[in-house]
Amino acid sequence: MYILGISCYFHDAAAALIKDGKLIAAAEEERFSRVKHDFDFPENAINFCLDYAGISGKDLDYVVFYEKPFHKFERILMTTFQNFPKSWKVFREAMITWLGDKLWVKSIIKEKTGVEDKKILFGEHHLSHAASAFYPSPFEEAAILTVDGVGEWTTATMGIGKGTDIKLLKEIKFPHSLGLLYSAFTAFLGFKVNNGEYKVMGMAPYGKPKYIEKIYDNLIKVASDGSFWINMDYFSYHYSDERTFNSKFEDLFGKPRNPEMNFFTSNTRFPSYFGEKPSNYSELCRENEHYADIAASIQRVTEEVLLKLVNSLYKETGMKKLCMAGGVGLNSKANGRILRETPFEELFIQPSAGDGGGALGSALHAYHGLMGKPRNFVLEHAYWGKEYPDKEIKGFLESNNISYEYFSDDSKLLDRIVDEIVAGKVVGLFQGRFEWGPRALGNRSILADPRSEEMKDLVNIKIKFREPFRPFAPVILEENIGDFFYGDNVAKQFPARYMLLVLPLKEDKDRSINAVNHMGTGRLQTIREKWNPRYYRIVKKFGEATGVPVLLNTSFNLRGEPIVTSPANAFNTFSKSGIDMLVLENFMIRK
Ligand SMILES: [Fe+2]
Repeated sequence: MYILGISCYFHDAAAALIKDGKLIAAAEEERFSRVKHDFDFPENAINFCLDYAGISGKDLDYVVFYEKPFHKFERILMTTFQNFPKSWKVFREAMITWLGDKLWVKSIIKEKTGVEDKKILFGEHHLSHAASAFYPSPFEEAAILTVDGVGEWTTATMGIGKGTDIKLLKEIKFPHSLGLLYSAFTAFLGFKVNNGEYKVMGMAPYGKPKYIEKIYDNLIKVASDGSFWINMDYFSYHYSDERTFNSKFEDLFGKPRNPEMNFFTSNTRFPSYFGEKPSNYSELCRENEHYADIAASIQRVTEEVLLKLVNSLYKETGMKKLCMAGGVGLNSKANGRILRETPFEELFIQPSAGDGGGALGSALHAYHGLMGKPRNFVLEHAYWGKEYPDKEIKGFLESNNISYEYFSDDSKLLDRIVDEIVAGKVVGLFQGRFEWGPRALGNRSILADPRSEEMKDLVNIKIKFREPFRPFAPVILEENIGDFFYGDNVAKQFPARYMLLVLPLKEDKDRSINAVNHMGTGRLQTIREKWNPRYYRIVKKFGEATGVPVLLNTSFNLRGEPIVTSPANAFNTFSKSGIDMLVLENFMIRK
């Protein structure tokens, strides 16, 4: 039985195809359309899933959309009416887009896939999140927490999964939203909502959480069980789609950070690509520290609310295993604290924890929750996207007159890669099926030597041009975690496979991997040979050569672009950037 899940029209559009309960293929639309965070109908991702399975739309038994459009439309209508006339612009926009496409998603699905009406089902946004977290987990029973910006009405749920059943026990509703609170601070700090949240998380360690009381006194009330209420006097996300906070918010925290201003403090580097050091450097450092303090404060509050929610979920369920989803599940710093500080012993988060993951969740929910079919699948890795055979890569290289070296002996190729990295070069690694979710985990990755702090600047100058406060992540062999990080027991769990866990670095080792040391912590990815043999062997060989079984791993893309999908995308990124060596499966290309 084939079931296709679809999510779109809000954040990341995606499609996921399951066969008899097992995932076959899944991808976010942005990888094909090349539009970052593309939320349009995921036509390309759907076609990829069908092609991969070798089927057509007619072969699908069901297509499930991840939420209920009419309920969401009702929320938008009611909120805009309550806030009229302030909300007239949102109202007008909503009428155009919702009456245009969003409400009639059923007919679009029918048109694009050719399935009949009766085969099209609609999930619920948070149930899809919960299903995406529980069903592909290895747990027979687990507590479930979902937290995001907003679905139809719901912004957070607590529940229980047992076998094929999911029960949501409690929920919090719009406009009370931890995700939207975090997003309001994201916008205030000069970053794009739904995109810059992880930048706030990256900025936080450079500040002190000075404003926690201010946030609790004015913006959010939190009960001992973690239930929360947002004081809407300070926000405008319920009536504006341009601004998320209002002038009262600015009275509390001062003027918003200018997005054009370079962020640096006395604790960050001042990289050469910022140009010459300004004459008022110290003054600008202080100004930036104020914003870092705000980032640290909202990050801390978010962690505290999540810890309360998780603790009360434990009290209520007595379970030792937890599954999490929703955009807030991507807050890797909070995830590290949940594992280290609450009674939950095991945590499962799948790599596409945000709205893209709703596609997977809605398909699995139809199969297990609605049809009662037994579970038979655990999501052991993130490699569910498209792959490109050698023949196709060769055709691409030759038709574009690109010279290459072909390695039939894998270990020779891996030795070359490691030699280059040890020599300080930056390598683009393209292999296998691309990753599900926002992180590059070794199949569309840029790899570099993590030992010296200069490598951070070098990767930024060559490729990324990112703010110097944004961390690069370490990939580490699972057997070596305890040598470098505190919490080696928790790093053996799923979130670390998907780079969804921040752990403190051991003091005697933090200088040995300076390029991936983020103020004494690392957002690590762990790797086991069976998950990705080639990637594992590269890190292992690097460890044998240098004594450090860790590499710097960052996503293979240019700033502002989605991660590369095809050999052509990869070659294009390689040509436009300072990447020294490109590996496309068994082909090696040098500058
Ligand atoms: Fe969501």
